[in-house]
Amino acid sequence: METTSVKPQFSEAAKAEIERICKQYPPERRKSALLPVLHIAQAEFGGWVSPEVQDLVAEVIGIKPIEVYEVSSFYTMFNLKPVGKHVLEICRTGPCMLRGSDELTAHLERITGAKVNGATSPDGLFTLKEVECLAACGFAPIVQVREKYYEQLDTPAAVDAMLTELRNQVHRPALPWEETGLSNALANN
Ligand code: FES
Repeated sequence: METTSVKPQFSEAAKAEIERICKQYPPERRKSALLPVLHIAQAEFGGWVSPEVQDLVAEVIGIKPIEVYEVSSFYTMFNLKPVGKHVLEICRTGPCMLRGSDELTAHLERITGAKVNGATSPDGLFTLKEVECLAACGFAPIVQVREKYYEQLDTPAAVDAMLTELRNQVHRPALPWEETGLSNALANN
């Protein structure tokens, strides 16, 4: 049976925010808005940017799709596949590794059932990603979840406290730009 896919659309609030950002640049430099627009797209569409969503980003900015793909596939903060409710970005660079990021990763895999850089946890809550230095080496080992840093995760108790906090989170915290009216549209992502 033939399936028809529905083209994704930004909410009105997201469109307004995107236009506000694009207007900060000369018309011929709208591409400069690409990173913040990709962040909005990722937040609007369930935490990841599908090829269709990236095409939409290209359309609203007025650039070629390939220009979006180049950027989204370069930065680790953009997810190109479906993810769990919480994406845990685990720093694996030197200082965090010396302070136990390998053990932290193994512990997280064991507790959640997710695989680092692989399958999301069976309950759909957690995706584990390895990333490079998060610029908080003095508080290693570090995990970033959206805009929040969880620091000094070198004990099982600290890791368990983080997971409990995330499990109890009904809605994710608002992002700064959501305070301009996007919170309703994004509340359930
Ligand atoms: S090495 Fe992990 S935050 Fe810098």
